[in-house]
Amino acid sequence: MGKKEMQVSAIENGTVIDHIPAEKTYEVVDLLGLKNSLAPVTIGYNLPSKKIGKKGIIKITNRFFSQEEISRLSVVAPKIVLNIIKDYEVAEKKTVELPEELRGIVKCNNPKCITNNEPMQTVFNVIDKAQGILKCRYCDKEQDINNIKLC
Ligand code: CTP
Ligand code: ZN
Repeated sequence: MGKKEMQVSAIENGTVIDHIPAEKTYEVVDLLGLKNSLAPVTIGYNLPSKKIGKKGIIKITNRFFSQEEISRLSVVAPKIVLNIIKDYEVAEKKTVELPEELRGIVKCNNPKCITNNEPMQTVFNVIDKAQGILKCRYCDKEQDINNIKLC
């Protein structure tokens, strides 16, 4: 590691979620259900970052996330990086990207939408990935990814 010291201890195997905008750190914890994690989780919060000012970092020992779990993260923190750690080395870096559709992740902001009135899963089409525009498949209402409520 040379002179560079880590702000949170290194892990041997697992996933390091890095470059989380500081204020989104606990949303990422929620989205991945880490409150109920049996594996050790260390959370760094409000750490200085050259790229984004202040960041959060989450390290989960011996856990690797599915593509489905990773795509959930794209909703709250599109710029984060998942580092896959094997034997103390970064084996892979994964960036997150909005998928084509979001199921059961985001609430519809139309109070009259059936998804807000029946016990059912929401479904959104991502109609513009770059701008982050979602369209409800049930009521056609569009919403901005920066202005969402999680289910
Ligand atoms: N890390 C870790 N345990 C290891 C190896 C790395 O916790 N055994 C963490 C580092 O602290 C860092 C992240 O994994 O937060 C990515 O490591 P690395 O790619 O070495 O760092 P950077 O080059 O700074 O990554 P980036 O370019 O994504 O900022
Ligand atoms: Zn709707």
